[in-house]
Amino acid sequence: MAKITYIEHDGTEHTVDVKPGQSVMEGAVKNNIPGIDADCGGACACATCHVYVDPAWQDKTGSTTAMEESMLDFAEGVEPNSRLSCQITVTDQLDGLIVRMPESQH
Ligand code: FES
Repeated sequence: MAKITYIEHDGTEHTVDVKPGQSVMEGAVKNNIPGIDADCGGACACATCHVYVDPAWQDKTGSTTAMEESMLDFAEGVEPNSRLSCQITVTDQLDGLIVRMPESQH
């Protein structure tokens, strides 16, 4: 299990255990954490699972794929540490990961 902390835009923190193999998006949705809509269910086709990866974790979460990059064009407030959380697969190496949610996914 990897402990992942999701921080809502208002600063509310949720730390949950996520099973390796699931995506960071699935970890939020399965634990009813607000702030990640995931309208397309993880197909990299909606950009409503946008998160900001804590800078300390950017290396471990890897970089965006070309498809993810083009979907991020539809998200609001994109920053260099923006990712689509359905495209980050949880591994034991991500134990302790911190992601922040944007103010809105639409
Ligand atoms: S859930 Fe739709 S792009 Fe991630």
